[in-house]
Amino acid sequence: MHEIKKIDDFTSLNNFKSKYLGKNSILYAYFSKLTTLEISERKKFSILLNGFKKKIQDKINYKKKKLQDNKIIQEKNKHFLDCTLPGRRIEKGNLHPLTIVINEIKKFFNCLGFKTFYGPEIENTYYNFDALNIPNDHPTKSMNDTFWFDVNHVLRTQTSSMQIRILEKYSVPIRAIVPGKVYRRDYDHTHTPMFHQIEGLIVDTAISFSHLKWILENFIIKILNKNVKVRFRSSYFPFTCPSAEMDIQDKHGKWLEILGCGMVHPNVLKHCNIDSNVYLGGAFGIGVERIAMLKYSVSDIRCFFENDVRFLKQFCNSEKY
Ligand code: DAH
Repeated sequence: MHEIKKIDDFTSLNNFKSKYLGKNSILYAYFSKLTTLEISERKKFSILLNGFKKKIQDKINYKKKKLQDNKIIQEKNKHFLDCTLPGRRIEKGNLHPLTIVINEIKKFFNCLGFKTFYGPEIENTYYNFDALNIPNDHPTKSMNDTFWFDVNHVLRTQTSSMQIRILEKYSVPIRAIVPGKVYRRDYDHTHTPMFHQIEGLIVDTAISFSHLKWILENFIIKILNKNVKVRFRSSYFPFTCPSAEMDIQDKHGKWLEILGCGMVHPNVLKHCNIDSNVYLGGAFGIGVERIAMLKYSVSDIRCFFENDVRFLKQFCNSEKY
């Protein structure tokens, strides 16, 4: 009966049954021959044969039960829930590095009483250029620099356009910052056609360039989280006078341009019906990507927009919301 031990499925068991108990089995043949025997012999042999038959049947029944039990265990295992296994990890998203930097900048200025405003990205040329004292022949107005919709509408090239919208709508004194996207026809490792700026505007009766310097110096130290050497270099922007650019010194002694700033041009105030003999304004424009590149030592601006998770994951623990 070694044969039955090796059986591990129902089909083989059925085959086994017909082989040893079926109509073609030796046992069946012996049973058929019983009628040819004499009564006393027949009795003896039939007891013997029935004994064999029962033995075989018992073995088959036992095997059948075992196979059924195995099947139940297998089914159970299929649906087995192991509560001791560790849970499946759900990947958590994190803020984009530029959002982290924008939030930090907002926080700094909000603490100084600057309110945050947002404006349209499709901008009227009046707000983007004309009211900002930008003459018609200024290079930013050229087809090569600006994305034009029609003669009166552009994708805003600077958040400075919001200076006018804010001064038109709200009364002075005012302290405002405007984070947002701006667009220019540029593409290389330090320029992308869309980038982020934060405009700053402060208008009051006794605002001077030294206020602006103090604010911006403290801003850069706070944002970069280290003491850096700062210089203000005279520059030109049509909407500020005097205008300057703020540079910081890197660890090799090289000066890096950080942002533009200046005292709001009287013509700009005039466009907004603000008396420039009473009120003075300071303004600045911060390039968010530039700050982020310095803060996180990123050398190619395009990294911020390629959505490479390996790059983005590095900022996982920078800010929790
Ligand atoms: N709008 C300027 C730009 O996009 C940046 C800027 C410079 C803004 C000087 C200002 C400012 O408010 O005073 O390059």
